[in-house]
Amino acid sequence: MSTTPFMTLERFIIEQERKHPEATGALSRILSDLSIAAKIVSREVNKAGLVEILGFTGSTNVHGESVKKLDIYAHDMLFKAMDHGGQLCVMASEEEEDIIHIPKHFRIGKYVMLFDPLDGSSNIDVNVSIGTIFSIYKRVSEGDGPGTLEDCLQRGLEQVAAGYVIYGSSTMLVYTVGEGVDGFTLDPSIGEFILSHPNMKIPEKGKIYSINEGNYKYWHPGLKKYIKWLQEEEKESGRPYSTRYIGSMVADVHRTLLYGGIFMYPADSRNPKGKLRLQYECNPMAFIIEAAGGKAIDGYKRILERVPTALHERCPIFIGSPFDVDKVAKFIADTDAELEKPI
Ligand code: AHG
Ligand code: MN
Ligand code: MN
Repeated sequence: MSTTPFMTLERFIIEQERKHPEATGALSRILSDLSIAAKIVSREVNKAGLVEILGFTGSTNVHGESVKKLDIYAHDMLFKAMDHGGQLCVMASEEEEDIIHIPKHFRIGKYVMLFDPLDGSSNIDVNVSIGTIFSIYKRVSEGDGPGTLEDCLQRGLEQVAAGYVIYGSSTMLVYTVGEGVDGFTLDPSIGEFILSHPNMKIPEKGKIYSINEGNYKYWHPGLKKYIKWLQEEEKESGRPYSTRYIGSMVADVHRTLLYGGIFMYPADSRNPKGKLRLQYECNPMAFIIEAAGGKAIDGYKRILERVPTALHERCPIFIGSPFDVDKVAKFIADTDAELEKPI
């Protein structure tokens, strides 16, 4: 991958802003503040084994999931990096039940940020890649006062920016403002994100599928047929596919963006809405993958078109190369037609 030696994230953001004369610089400031939080979290993730931030806090979050110390640390870092920039009117986090107001003494801005501070928590203690996911909207509520829940419940189509940070063999920040996707790799020796993956495009078709096969027995019959189809041998269509499942959505989607294929967290008979959260996991990832030429559906329609009704609502997701997403949608639709009932 060609690395432009001096195209830092900061410079890239400014150059992107220049392409939009109407830009106020607010979004640039948000992205710049986010990159600072990413560097701080990256530093802690990369030494988590050495300091007392491994393990559980003993508390559980709104989803009843046990919270690891790094989740809280990442949440706090993102909040502290973003609360005083004067660009946001409200935030929402996986780790907070309600919306998060901007502290009174700070200026209130016109943007909204939703985030998953640490994605893939179950992998923290075993040194497997984890990440941060963010989603940015413009406020829709009237006036210049504190933002509202309405601001946080906009459809994914309305996002003005989305991105993720992956803390893996290197730390990368990948984001889009809706026109193309660009990836930056952190050079810890100078503390800068350097443009390493300009204009990322997902392959039209892949050869990897990613799903937690432990849930097979609970799946929609059409999904079972699709997975069996992927495992048959047929050279022309590159089957059998390989399977990869990291258990961190950020890592599984990042691999899918680079190599192609499909990542799935479906609804099933135990979790009728799936597991992943619409507002700070599915929508930002869908916005990024669509901007890279891919597709993201809930099994039937575009994730970005779903109308959110609750901050932490879950949503099934099938995301990746157009060929692969269309194929699984057809298996589900054809099986529904046979069974005459949707999942
Ligand atoms: P989080 O750590 O933010 O709660 O997200 C974990 C999610 C997602 O990263 C991953 O794709 C999924 O949980 C894995 O779930 P299973 O362990 O049920 O496969
Ligand atoms: Mn997550
Ligand atoms: Mn999380």
